[in-house]
Amino acid sequence: MLKPRLLVAASTLALSALAFAHDSAKPEDVIDYRQGLMTVIGWNFGPLGAMVKGKHPFEATEFSKHAGRIANLGDQILEGFAKGSDKGKTDAKPEIWANWDDFQGKARDLDTQAKLLAEVAKAGDEAKDKEQFKKVAAACKACHDKYKKD
Ligand code: HEC
Repeated sequence: MLKPRLLVAASTLALSALAFAHDSAKPEDVIDYRQGLMTVIGWNFGPLGAMVKGKHPFEATEFSKHAGRIANLGDQILEGFAKGSDKGKTDAKPEIWANWDDFQGKARDLDTQAKLLAEVAKAGDEAKDKEQFKKVAAACKACHDKYKKD
């Protein structure tokens, strides 16, 4: 049996090892990761947009499922923009790293709005879902307009 103090030390070590693993990730792997993450976010955003625009009938359970997935991904965005991942096959603008605090704020804003949408969606109220969806869409757009190449 490990003594409690040793256990704490061991888990701190494990955590910093994880952080290091990401710090030293190759730029192309970081780019793959963020594009994959954005693809998954976009995959789940699509059906929500279709329901909000009336291109697909509103289904509360489907809406809630996709909203929940986006909410679970929002806090991973920043990991996808590690330093040094500005060069390569990417649509990310270099301004991201020059305006890191602003970029971070935009990522957090999306995370906050997406988590709110997942909460709202649990009740299944179509009007409220649509209202909150617009805030999520605005948070995507705010970041893309400034930091993503067309
Ligand atoms: C904090 C900034 C930020 C937020 C918020 C954000 N994105 Fe992105 N997104 C980017 C950047 C930057 C790229 C370009 C990444 C690259 O090419 O390396 C991107 C790329 C994408 C792509 C293309 C992925 C690919 O295949 O290359 C999709 C789809 C996407 N975003 C969807 C969304 C949706 C939907 C939302 C909102 C729910 C969202 N994004 C929110 C910054 C953001």
